[in-house]
Amino acid sequence: MCGIFAVVNDPDHHAAQTTLDGLKKLEYRGYDSWGIAVVEHKNGTLAIEKHIGKIGGATTALPAGDIAIGHTRWATHGGVTDGNAHPHVDCSGRIVVIHNGIVENYQELKQMLLRRHHRFTSETDTEVIAHLIEDRVKSESVETAVLGVFKNLAGSNAIVVLDAKTNTIVACRNGSPLAAGVGKGQFFLASDVTPFLKFTRDVVFLADGEAVILTATKLRLLDIKTGKDKRLTPRRLDWKLEDAEKGGYPHFLLKEIMDQVTTVPKTALINRNEIAHVARRLERADRIVFTACGTASYCALAATYFFSGVGRETKSYGAYEYTPFSGFAGKKTVLFAISQSGETADTLIAARNAKARGAYVVAVVNARGSALERLADTTLPVGSGPEIAVVSTKAFTSQLATMYLVSRACTGNYARAVREVQDLGKTLRRWQTKKLRHDVLDLAKTLMNQEDIYIVGKHVSYPAALEVALKIKESSYIHAEPFAAGELKHGVLTLIQKGTPCIAIGANDETRLELLSSAAELRARGGTIIGITPFTSAEFDVTVKTPDAGPLTIIPNVIVGQLLGYYLGIGRGTDPDKPRNLAKSVTVK
Ligand code: F6R
Repeated sequence: MCGIFAVVNDPDHHAAQTTLDGLKKLEYRGYDSWGIAVVEHKNGTLAIEKHIGKIGGATTALPAGDIAIGHTRWATHGGVTDGNAHPHVDCSGRIVVIHNGIVENYQELKQMLLRRHHRFTSETDTEVIAHLIEDRVKSESVETAVLGVFKNLAGSNAIVVLDAKTNTIVACRNGSPLAAGVGKGQFFLASDVTPFLKFTRDVVFLADGEAVILTATKLRLLDIKTGKDKRLTPRRLDWKLEDAEKGGYPHFLLKEIMDQVTTVPKTALINRNEIAHVARRLERADRIVFTACGTASYCALAATYFFSGVGRETKSYGAYEYTPFSGFAGKKTVLFAISQSGETADTLIAARNAKARGAYVVAVVNARGSALERLADTTLPVGSGPEIAVVSTKAFTSQLATMYLVSRACTGNYARAVREVQDLGKTLRRWQTKKLRHDVLDLAKTLMNQEDIYIVGKHVSYPAALEVALKIKESSYIHAEPFAAGELKHGVLTLIQKGTPCIAIGANDETRLELLSSAAELRARGGTIIGITPFTSAEFDVTVKTPDAGPLTIIPNVIVGQLLGYYLGIGRGTDPDKPRNLAKSVTVK
């Protein structure tokens, strides 16, 4: 939700251009409008440019300067207009602000500021921040003013404030992500590290309650509550710049789908000690809970099947529905919070609730330095590298592989599971070829004009059905509805008519015959049946054959769904990297 970027001591003295390039990497976080503010080199005044629409092809004519901030917006308060785009400036033109989050008490703050005759030029909650700081800098340093104002903002927020008078940037975090990059003589700030990877891999991830002050000579880390300096220890990331580039593919989404031939097996090489530690905790646990949102929640559901395969009963909850059940958490609960970003508000709330009741929290995350990682007792990073497309793909399959490894570690079968995941990597490499892409493209062509697609799966193929449906919905905007195969007879069959496309997802397991019975029932009502399975069958009109990888067959099955969503989206003219109305990281409730 909203992307933030800032640079101090721009390497080329064109801070606005660097900011524009940085924001283009953050567009996945919000893409209804964008804006940049730069302190003009010539005269030290602020120059601001703001536009509605996507930033992808944008250029900037802003003047040369060494310090700038920029923002790409996912609207919450105030419509999508140039005026509501960030940055927002105070009445004097000295203070300019960008913001990610929601100032929940902005109405009362705005009324108070209006009584003091401040002039507002937008309908946003953000603008109050600029005016509040404006009042305080009359008698305080900008650092003190920003920290003082931030403490009075209700809600989850990250703000970045540029003071044109002192050429200082002050940024504060409470609930929305912020990372500072420490380059050679330059400093950067961004919502995630991808926009500054080109300049530095040395990063300070801000925790909630921390602020940074960036000037031409120094980067300081502060505790917002006390105002005292904290030790600044940047950590070096192993992410490479190429990980955040399209690598010759037309879209990040396709690149990330294809990346899975390496990201899945890589998952098996990390977390060995951590998984052993978690497995020991699980031995003592009387309750094992998985929680997550969206795609990650389907990994949570798949994990319940992985664990039942090793004789453990577990529960999965959408994090947004966990509150009524959090009371059951206790000292012998292990809660796995699964999240690509580690910043999803609902997942964080669920993890905090369980932890407050004594539960042991395991974060299964992809992005590093997140709030979830900080609050967890153990973190299992899934290591799939930066995921730029809004639609989650490679993080999901690495989460699945991780949860499979954890489940097998519980019965002493970790080493074997590692081999299985690595073998799957080799199989994916042989299978995920141009031919597969052509086959799925051909299938997509037949489905392009459909309004509804139904998808069924059973047992571990049920979360696969949920995920494939979500991929199709997000990428192509076609209504795709998933069902547990067993549910069909209980009402859903009324929806099937001649030619209705039905996808049957299955594995070579105990569900095979039941899935085929469901396919036959759908076919008998006129449905056109597409099998995504490691086997062929006379019940299928079309089959996309996937490799048989035992319980891990869910991974290649979902990859077919990812590709299908992608090609359907291309065919229907959507932007596969940035589906409408969505943002990659949902940091508000
Ligand atoms: C779907 C998708 C979302 C996320 C969900 C949780 O493609 O990306 O459904 O999975 O918003 O996000 P994380 O995993 O960052 O907690």
